[in-house]
Amino acid sequence: MKQRPFFLTFEGIDGCGKTTQANMLEQSLLNRKLSVTHTFEPGGTVLGQKLRTILVHDELNLSLFAEVLLFAADRRQDIDEVIEPALKRGDIVIAERFADSSVAYQGVAGNVGRERVEQLMEIVTSGLVPNLTLLLDIDPRASLARKTDLDRIEQRGQFLDVVRYAFLDMAKSQPHRWVVIDAGRSASAVFRDVLDAVLSRLA
Ligand SMILES: Nc1ncnc2c1ncn2[C@@H]1O[C@H](COP(=O)(O)OP(=O)(O)OP(=O)(O)O)[C@@H](O)[C@H]1O
Ligand SMILES: [Mg+2]
Repeated sequence: MKQRPFFLTFEGIDGCGKTTQANMLEQSLLNRKLSVTHTFEPGGTVLGQKLRTILVHDELNLSLFAEVLLFAADRRQDIDEVIEPALKRGDIVIAERFADSSVAYQGVAGNVGRERVEQLMEIVTSGLVPNLTLLLDIDPRASLARKTDLDRIEQRGQFLDVVRYAFLDMAKSQPHRWVVIDAGRSASAVFRDVLDAVLSRLA
C-alpha cells in the first residue's frame, strides 16, 4: 500500500472504546509496514499532560468557556508539535478526539454554543480537518457501565445522551468525512468495521 499523509480521528462519548480501537488500529497499520503517529488529548504533549491535571482539579471552578480555551490551547500545541510534523513526514495520524469533541461536549451539551465553539475551532486548527472521523456510537449507559460506578451513571448518562446526539448530528451533516460505527459490540467486531473504513479510504 502506498503511503500518503492521512489524518484520522476517533470521536465518541466517554468509554465508547476510542483508546482500545486506536491502539488496535495503530498495531494493525504498523504490521502493514505503514508509518503511524498516534496522539490523544488532552495529554499528547507535555503541555497537554499539565493541562490534564488542571482540567481534573474540581476546586478550580473553571467556567465552561475557560475549559474550552484550555482544551483549545492543548489542541493547538498538539497540532504544532505532533500532528503537522507527522503529516509532513507522510504519516497516518490517529488522534483520539479532536475539534469535534469540543463542539459536542462544550458547544452543544455544555451550552457554550455550537457555532461559537465551531468558530473558535476553525481558528485554533487553522482549518485543519480530518480526512476521516470514526464515530464510535454507543448508549452512554452501556459505555459508563464499562468503567464507572453505578451511582454516576444516570446523571452523567443524561449529559452524554446530548453529546451522543450532537455527534450523530455532526456525522449526518458531513457524511463524506464521518463513518458511524456501532460500538456496543465486542471490541473485535467493532474493529472489523474500523479497519474496513480505514483501509477502503487509504487504498
Ligand atoms: N467493545 C468493547 N466491549 C466491552 N468493553 C470494552 C470494549 N471496548 C473497550 N472496552 C473497555 O471499556 C473501557 C473503556 O474503553 P476505552 O478506554 O477504550 O474507551 P475510551 O473511549 O478511550 O474512553 P475515554 O473517553 O475515557 O478515553 C476499558 O476498560 C476497555 O477495556
Ligand atoms: Mg481513551
